[in-house]
Amino acid sequence: MTATAGALAQVPVLAAGASAPAPVLIEFDRVAKVYKAADGRPVRAVDSVKGEIRAGEFVSILGPSGCGKSTLMMMLAGLLRPSEGEIRFKGKPVTGPQEGFGIVFQDAVLFPWRTVQDNVRLPGEVRGLPRDEQIERAQAMIRLVGLAGFESKFPHELSGGMQQRVAIARALSLGPSLLVMDEPFGALDAMTREQMNLELQRISLESGATVVFVTHSIAEAAFLSDRVFVMSGRPSTVRDIVTVDLPRPRAIQQMNTDRFGVYVARLRGLLDAEGGHS
Ligand SMILES: Nc1ncnc2c1ncn2[C@@H]1O[C@H](COP(=O)(O)OP(=O)(O)O)[C@@H](O)[C@H]1O
Ligand SMILES: [Mg+2]
Repeated sequence: MTATAGALAQVPVLAAGASAPAPVLIEFDRVAKVYKAADGRPVRAVDSVKGEIRAGEFVSILGPSGCGKSTLMMMLAGLLRPSEGEIRFKGKPVTGPQEGFGIVFQDAVLFPWRTVQDNVRLPGEVRGLPRDEQIERAQAMIRLVGLAGFESKFPHELSGGMQQRVAIARALSLGPSLLVMDEPFGALDAMTREQMNLELQRISLESGATVVFVTHSIAEAAFLSDRVFVMSGRPSTVRDIVTVDLPRPRAIQQMNTDRFGVYVARLRGLLDAEGGHS
């Protein structure tokens, strides 16, 4: 079995027209985070976040800068503990970094001295997989993100968009059931960003992975998501959840349609009700 087939086999997908809904993968149960400010006073960054995400869903967390999105993602990824409440993954509380999670941050965070292939096979190396299997998985993921032929390049030889693809390939390399992405395309120019949105849609459809995607871009959230969790300003909580009922795969041109515009207006209205949007 190839690494891709292995990765796909592990992941439950929302079958088209399926009667039973996919199982709940993630539960946010009244999650809150209180930081200590420099002057020692408590800062409530995230408050009472509730919601469920089902296997195979693409969910965006949309909110203004500074509202607590990264805080929520860090807690979901198990890199930060909630002050109150809990996050459950497959019914078990997330208390630390988990196998089965792939994480992509705003900056690609690649090792400059390692080639594309060596960056992508790193999680397999850390896990102690046989070298052949590391390479096989890495090559499958490099193909999936459209970087075949660039295996032996170094990060500095790649554009920003390509580096972010490497980070996505690395996050996918162990066949995660959950991909957590915190503004992964925030540093890219508008055209590269559209291209990456198309690529991410394709990758998520092909891999079947559940994706939780943080963004402050209304259009990006509407384009990519099955559902959008719209966050309020600080302390951040889920103000509303908008289901984006547009067929897939979606083309960029769909962004110009009235139907798409209705979703954008609705999301913007929810954000504006929170006192502005950056
Ligand atoms: N380690 C920290 N200590 C104190 N305050 C923090 C810390 N990290 C984040 N904050 C504050 O929490 C709020 C939410 O931050 P963050 O989660 O990064 O927001 P976002 O990702 O939506 O821009 C901000 O006001 C930020 O200043
Ligand atoms: Mg952030």
